[in-house]
Amino acid sequence: MRIFVLTGAGVSAESGLGTFRDKDGVWTKYDLRDVATPEGFARDPARVRAFYNARRANLGEASPNAAHHALARLEVELEARGGELFLCTQNVDDLHEKAGSGRVVHMHGELAVTRCDHCQALKPDMTPLTGEAICEGCGRADGARPHVVWFGETPLFLEEIDEALSRADLFVSIGTSGSVYPAAGFVAEARAMGVATCEINLEPSANAYMFDEKLYGPASEVVPGWVERVLTQG
Ligand code: APR
Repeated sequence: MRIFVLTGAGVSAESGLGTFRDKDGVWTKYDLRDVATPEGFARDPARVRAFYNARRANLGEASPNAAHHALARLEVELEARGGELFLCTQNVDDLHEKAGSGRVVHMHGELAVTRCDHCQALKPDMTPLTGEAICEGCGRADGARPHVVWFGETPLFLEEIDEALSRADLFVSIGTSGSVYPAAGFVAEARAMGVATCEINLEPSANAYMFDEKLYGPASEVVPGWVERVLTQG
């Protein structure tokens, strides 16, 4: 069986990482135009670096929850049966990896990676971003940014994602509000290709009506039970 799982901020909520659009969400405290756009970075790079440095500090203390662990188990079990789990996440945290997931497709990039805005060189990095750091790639300073896809930038791995979606037997969306494209459009693509669809979320998302099956509740409670059912029903 080939399953395509898309995760969003809701899968990491119970690990203490904030979501974006819930009550007290990140975008209720910050204007995304200031901290999550290329224009915001050009206008005030120090403010953007401070925003992501706070998120790096938070991430350093976060642990995966039962939902992350259940998805790591699903990957191992499906592969043992000759199947596949394609785990695509909108999240920039590393909790899927910390839970043991082997292949995680970060379509919005990764917080724990620094990118040089001048030469695009990448390096794993959880230290605070500064304007003084000299890029090992091009030798220039003042280019350090998080390797995170900002609004107006192109998400990563889109070809690989479309290919995986077309070969899936089941598309499952976990912990996302269905507000941001292209991820919010995956369920429509799946349906158009005759792929079964399931939404697992705290509450109905913006495109809940498009899902064949809907399971609501906290991810750390619902996802392990759903994985167990998939593995026992085969
Ligand atoms: N269990 C399951 N779902 C949860 C939980 C939980 N414990 N807590 C919250 N949720 C759900 C909310 O109901 C909501 O539908 O998670 C979803 C979070 O939605 P958003 O905050 O919009 O996050 P997300 O959908 O991941 O945002 C998509 O927007 O800001 C950009 O790039 C950013 O990747 C992000 C993208």
